[in-house]
Amino acid sequence: MLHPHTAGVRCTPLLSCVPLILLLLLAPQAVSAHGDARPDKTGILLAAFGTSVPEAQSAYDKLEALVRREFPDVPLHWAYTSGMVRRKLAQERPEAPELFSPAAALTRMADAGFTHVAVLSLHVLPGEEYHGLVRTAQALAGLPKGLKQVRVSLPLLARSEDLEAAAKAIREAAPQRAPGEALVLMGHGTHHPADVVYAAMQYHFDRLGKDVLVGTVEGFPSLDDVLALLRERGFTKATLMPLMTVAGDHARNDMAGDEDDSWKPVLEAAGIGCTPVLAGLAEHDAVARLWVEQLRTTMQALE
Ligand code: CO
Repeated sequence: MLHPHTAGVRCTPLLSCVPLILLLLLAPQAVSAHGDARPDKTGILLAAFGTSVPEAQSAYDKLEALVRREFPDVPLHWAYTSGMVRRKLAQERPEAPELFSPAAALTRMADAGFTHVAVLSLHVLPGEEYHGLVRTAQALAGLPKGLKQVRVSLPLLARSEDLEAAAKAIREAAPQRAPGEALVLMGHGTHHPADVVYAAMQYHFDRLGKDVLVGTVEGFPSLDDVLALLRERGFTKATLMPLMTVAGDHARNDMAGDEDDSWKPVLEAAGIGCTPVLAGLAEHDAVARLWVEQLRTTMQALE
């Protein structure tokens, strides 16, 4: 996992200045014509996995509104890290404004005169998509006439203090529950080592009360693990909520859907009455504010 101060990239000032100083001594008039005299221009890039579900878009809209309120004078751009989602959107909604990859969005910002960019990672945890975003930022910072500095924020769940704050915010944001009713969160899950974040979230939820259970579609813990814990703790009802930035395809089909392997019918067949809530993490004010905090830290680290 990357610390915010190391996640960004900048050229080493001492090394890059040596040739410049030599040139200044030897031929000052030649340098003045070719030096980088561009004024600094800072921008924000919101980088999300992306969604092709129109109803899920509201989560991104909400986050964008919060970021605009916090940083009213900083121009804001979007990128979707999922090529699959970008291609699907281009096909289904050719009239909508084009969505760019982080590499394309950063390149366009460089061409538009930006010199410094704070990238807000709207990913849930530091997995494959997040590290791809960091590598892209590293590759595009410090190019001639390009971006001088690009820093990527930590995702929502990165450090222990992030997990602790998010557990509190998510538990409080969830709808009021009846006695004997658990809150079951559906995370995506990943083959990336960052999958451990889900089990760590369970730890933080357990410290607040034993009524929130975390499972994943593709990682650990599984739905079977969640069901075993529901039984062990004596719950007969559950509110189902996605532990994902938006309530997209997984939330609608794999959590709240009617197909055989969807969480709602599986849990109901096991005697747990389910109430699905189709709201992504970014739709809860208190959680969205944690993302804005990650961005603020990154903005402050820009030089
Ligand atoms: Co998926």
